[in-house]
Amino acid sequence: MNHRSAPPRRRAAWVAGAVAVATALAGGVAMSTSAQAAGDTLQEAAADRGLYFGTAITGSKLTDSTYETIANREFDMITAENAMKLDATEPQQGQFDFSRGDRIANWATQNGKQLRGHTLAWHSQQPGWMQNMEGSQLRQAMLNHVTQVATHYRGQIHSWDVVNEAFEDGGTGARRNSNLQRTGNDWIEAAFYAAREADPNAKLCYNDYNIDNWSWAKTQAAYNLVADFKSRGVPIDCIGLQSHFNPNSPYPDNYRTTLQSFADLGVDVQITELDIEGSGQQQADTYRRVVEDCLAVSRCDGITVWGVRDTDSWRSQGTPLLFDGNGNKKEAYHAVLDELNDGNTPDPTEDPTEDPTEDPTGDPTLPPGDCSADLTIVNSWGGGYQGEVTVTAGSSAISGWSVALAGGIDVNQLWNGTLSGSTVTNVSWNGNLGSGQSTSFGFIGNGSPPSAGSLACGS
Ligand code: G3I
Repeated sequence: MNHRSAPPRRRAAWVAGAVAVATALAGGVAMSTSAQAAGDTLQEAAADRGLYFGTAITGSKLTDSTYETIANREFDMITAENAMKLDATEPQQGQFDFSRGDRIANWATQNGKQLRGHTLAWHSQQPGWMQNMEGSQLRQAMLNHVTQVATHYRGQIHSWDVVNEAFEDGGTGARRNSNLQRTGNDWIEAAFYAAREADPNAKLCYNDYNIDNWSWAKTQAAYNLVADFKSRGVPIDCIGLQSHFNPNSPYPDNYRTTLQSFADLGVDVQITELDIEGSGQQQADTYRRVVEDCLAVSRCDGITVWGVRDTDSWRSQGTPLLFDGNGNKKEAYHAVLDELNDGNTPDPTEDPTEDPTEDPTGDPTLPPGDCSADLTIVNSWGGGYQGEVTVTAGSSAISGWSVALAGGIDVNQLWNGTLSGSTVTNVSWNGNLGSGQSTSFGFIGNGSPPSAGSLACGS
């Protein structure tokens, strides 16, 4: 199935409004418009291109409002980062604990999101009792685990990572020597048959890392596994490329070839755990290329990034995600959004829902500029709060910026900027920003904190 043509196209309200105005101005004469749909969140922009955009979630962090707000606003596909793994769901043999997984599944359902299941059979994160098992006893226990967990979540899962990371690294293309592998070479297909029986409607994926570079032996080994399963009718629907990129495992130029080659075998392709170590333009460019590649392969279902903020990442020191530790959108975020919007990302200054010129409180007009501004609430207390605004230059360097504080912000004290009316401009030392560079100013506000989000920025 080609997902790119299937889903309904969603259009941001401002685009619909702009088209309606244009039509009215044309005196009702039918006119063709080249207006592009443009989403202003990742999930919206991805949906317009027939993709999902997901993230990995840790249930205990859902009480962190910055984390929860971003997760809910930006993503429409959720993977439990650890909560549906073997050690979490079957801590004692035959005693299943779905509390952590259900917490995430319930949050996803309540917020209208889909779920990827991760993972049913894996050599790692096995509970202690399983680590000590071998042979037919282990085979039976593994199949029972697959059946019980997939049955519990039956009907809720878009795709399951049925088997995770079964090949070894390096140039051999061999299976990883794990206790599961030692139960017999057919353990992978046995797991897929059990999963299909337990949840016939979930897509069943094989998921691995270092299968991104088409010329690597491990990629060829995974490819041969899928080809073999397809030729013998073993139930497999998708390949999950984890895509953890870093200097040892860089984004390969032939990534699109890899995606397309798997797709040509008749399986869907999912990018399941994307993170790209780095920063600034280089990181943003690589993210952009991954999105481009997925968009170019019609069977690429969607992209999941492996965490919300850099500080949530399993590799936090590599700052590999789309939001910084404060929840600010990074340059990489803007690159992904822009690519999903086919280069037509809406400028928030043109969005009536965000444009202070449309605000009945009469906030100032700013010329659209090559910068963006994002407000976060650092702290709040009865009667006041601390806000921080990150200003980021867009595709060109800027030599000054102005940010319009949206209606209702009553500043008590402000630093690293100059306040005039409701407009904050740079001070002498933080006006020059190279492309993608950021600076910030802070303030104490009176009253209740406003919602975090984009503010109008002009340069
Ligand atoms: O929750 C406990 C905490 O109570 C304890 O104090 C602490 C001490 O070590 O450990 C905490 O658990 C850690 C857990 O993450 C939650 O943070 C585990 O030790 C740690 O091993 C676990 O790491 C997870 C890793 O899988 C385990 O293999 C990462 O969060 C998770 O991102 C990572 O995800 C994997 C995918 O499942 C498969 N592909 C690779 C990917 C990255 O390794």
